Amino acid sequence: MNEKQAVAVKAVEFVETGMVLGIGTGSTVNYFINALADKIKDGLKITAVSTSAATTKLAESLGIRITSLDEVEKVDLTIDGADEVDAQFNGIKGGGGALLFEKIVAKASQQNIWIVDSSKIVKQLGKFPLPVEVTTFGAYRLLQHFDELGYRPIVRKINSQTFITDSGNYIIDLHLDVIKDPANLETELKLITGVVECGLFINIANRIIAGYPDRIEIINK
Ligand code: A5P
Repeated sequence: MNEKQAVAVKAVEFVETGMVLGIGTGSTVNYFINALADKIKDGLKITAVSTSAATTKLAESLGIRITSLDEVEKVDLTIDGADEVDAQFNGIKGGGGALLFEKIVAKASQQNIWIVDSSKIVKQLGKFPLPVEVTTFGAYRLLQHFDELGYRPIVRKINSQTFITDSGNYIIDLHLDVIKDPANLETELKLITGVVECGLFINIANRIIAGYPDRIEIINK
């Protein structure tokens, strides 16, 4: 079992019958969805909310019914991956482009568990390019603006096609190297007109399940 798979399997232990469960997005979460589907076949009963079209597709293909976020009163627990996590439990997410729905579901959730392999644990956020979701209208102006700020922005492309999010927006990845004050940067970015969301997740995760070659660590906030 690789680290991603090990933390995904561990995370299923935190899911209880009766919960409204938010399901994140990404390759680690894909392992979680598979493990969850097995538990559901064994009798676990949950209501599931998804954070992306990709997650919905995989979950439904394995027999997990997805309910809309607007149909549930609250989300008890969300399990998601992350691209970087620091010691304060702040993180960068959105490497898979699902940051907007992920943040909406996470903020609606009473508990948030991130499942990560050891490469994601960092002293300081910023080596991983920070995804910023922007409206397609005027995106080039934002690109120029970020460039002037020295943020080394690149519009995300997949196979030379501009990447489009589930909400029909673009992603601009900022190559910052070091983010000294993540909370401040999140506020700064969100005040820019045309920015829909950014991949800084501050004060959201309560528990990290981190996978190492020889062990799994569960770190509670
Ligand atoms: C999706 O948009 C992201 O936030 C993912 O949660 C994050 O990129 C982690 O992905 P992996 O599990 O594929 O590393």
